[in-house]
Amino acid sequence: MAGRYPQAWLDELRNRADIVQVVSAYVPLKKNGSRYWGLCPFHGEKTASFSVNPSMQLFYCFGCKAGGSVIQFIMDIERLEYHEAVKFLADQVHLQLPQLEYDPNWEKKRSQKERLLAANREAARYYHQTLFTEAGRPALDYLKGRGLSDSVIRRFGLGAAPDQWDALTQHLKGQGYTEEELSLAGLTIIREAEPATEDSPARPRRVFDMFRGRAIFPIIDVSGNVLAFGGRILGQGQPKYLNTSDTPVFNKREGVYAANLLHKERQLERVILVEGYMDVVSLTQFGVRGVCATLGTALTVEQARLLKRFAPKVFLAYDGDSAGQHAILRGLDILQAAGVPARVLDFPDGLDPDEFIRRDGPEGFAKLPDISPETYRMRRLREQYDMTSQEDRMEYARACARVLKGLDPVAIETHLAELSVQTGFSREVLLQQIGQSQPLQTVQQQPPRRPRPAPAPAAAAETVRAQELIISLIAAKQLPVDAAEEKDFDDPLLKSIYAALSEGAQVADIVERQATADDRARVSQVLTQELPQSVDESLLMARQCLKALRRQRMEKELQQIMARLNTAPREEQGRLMAEAAQLTASLNKLKNSR
Ligand code: CTP
Ligand code: MN
Repeated sequence: MAGRYPQAWLDELRNRADIVQVVSAYVPLKKNGSRYWGLCPFHGEKTASFSVNPSMQLFYCFGCKAGGSVIQFIMDIERLEYHEAVKFLADQVHLQLPQLEYDPNWEKKRSQKERLLAANREAARYYHQTLFTEAGRPALDYLKGRGLSDSVIRRFGLGAAPDQWDALTQHLKGQGYTEEELSLAGLTIIREAEPATEDSPARPRRVFDMFRGRAIFPIIDVSGNVLAFGGRILGQGQPKYLNTSDTPVFNKREGVYAANLLHKERQLERVILVEGYMDVVSLTQFGVRGVCATLGTALTVEQARLLKRFAPKVFLAYDGDSAGQHAILRGLDILQAAGVPARVLDFPDGLDPDEFIRRDGPEGFAKLPDISPETYRMRRLREQYDMTSQEDRMEYARACARVLKGLDPVAIETHLAELSVQTGFSREVLLQQIGQSQPLQTVQQQPPRRPRPAPAPAAAAETVRAQELIISLIAAKQLPVDAAEEKDFDDPLLKSIYAALSEGAQVADIVERQATADDRARVSQVLTQELPQSVDESLLMARQCLKALRRQRMEKELQQIMARLNTAPREEQGRLMAEAAQLTASLNKLKNSR
């Protein structure tokens, strides 16, 4: 059972360690409106999209979506765990660390997400321990057979799922987790009972482990939370890898494998992005720093933004087979869209990074040149055309011109000579072609949005936005808590913030309570937005938002009643009609109110 700092002490710490002062020690800030702005220390940028909101004591970056309280800022910038960051700040403001409080009801009070994370952590521990027992022997033999050392196995917390139906499920149920929780976490599969049919007998309800007889790769985020697992079959068989599907604590499009280790690396010049779990572990064992992988999907913009926080450049090091080559082209588009400088490691002979480093050693890996995106794109194009045909040479020249379009003159110059030799066209002709080409089709970058006070949303589409505005007005004390009600919120996260605000919780505290980095960032974004300067404007905005929300809610209720009316038994119809009439009356009153 973990201890917690007393609430009053944390409030005192946050009062003394003013976020503007703390951040200013790392980032020069300028005041603009009610907020301070600076260049984000978590991703490379030239225009300031990093904001600090002194009244909320929160920071938020519109570029990379980092955000949170002063404690979160110190965790991110100093790469510390929560308790280390608290101690770091307490030292700075000469506040003595208090006794931790132990609350016997803590287990019960934790939110569902926290319980799922705790179940995952226990599962990771169980898998890892099993690896060194008899039941884990086949998995350990497999990993050793692939050349992994004990130390790298421990570093990544690799594990074994025993070849049994429900070993993990039983273990975790013994720790107090319910089958429903385990199923939500993606650790357990519940197959409901099925009655007998003509061709098959009845099947009883069964509960069994998701991962059985596999080597386990835990997926851990920068805060050390175990989010999910990848499991590799031992030897041949399908599917080769089994991954946790998305759960309340895991979104495979947003994280990367080995984020926990990347976070600890200092002064990384580049992140190396590979395709597979094995590639990450293997390269790391050979001493390559800063390696990570996507989680069984193609690279997404969210992941590209995350990578930007670890290093100024990303090297794509995908498999040398044709699927890998295709993924590199797509990955380059995504990185470009996210404004992340990229290079490519092009592995020879269709090898993947793991196979290559085993064949050529770390020296061979270090010698592999990293090539520019345009060089890579032109190399791939070159393979599609027959250079002995005049027509193909023309097409090739045109395609290359599209690749080079928009690059800086120096980059273009370095390719012109070679392209001229390959195609037989003069530099002047090629330059002209580049000038006339349409730029390469890629996903366009969204400029970071600096939101101005938003107009109140129009009724239907923007209910979440309306809920966000209400929450931020209350947090900014521009609207009393009881102007809204809990049922005005149907977004689960916003509903829980409202509940916390009505219990009098501090804003920074609410942010810190969120279990995942995603939620912390979203809450920070919601709470740091620019609000109207005058009280009148705020009240008007609040009134419009609440009106829209309530109107929508009543219309939905009314629809539900009408739908039920059709099938309801006679004795219920009278009551439903009365409810409908009352709702209609309130709705009309609402519509006519200002
Ligand atoms: N992958 C997956 N499901 C599969 C196959 C692959 O999720 N059925 C994902 C995994 O994240 C895997 C990555 O794609 O790590 C790369 O797959 P692949 O190149 O087939 O595997 P390797 O990394 O080479 O794995 P190994 O060396 O263990 O064969
Ligand atoms: Mn491989």
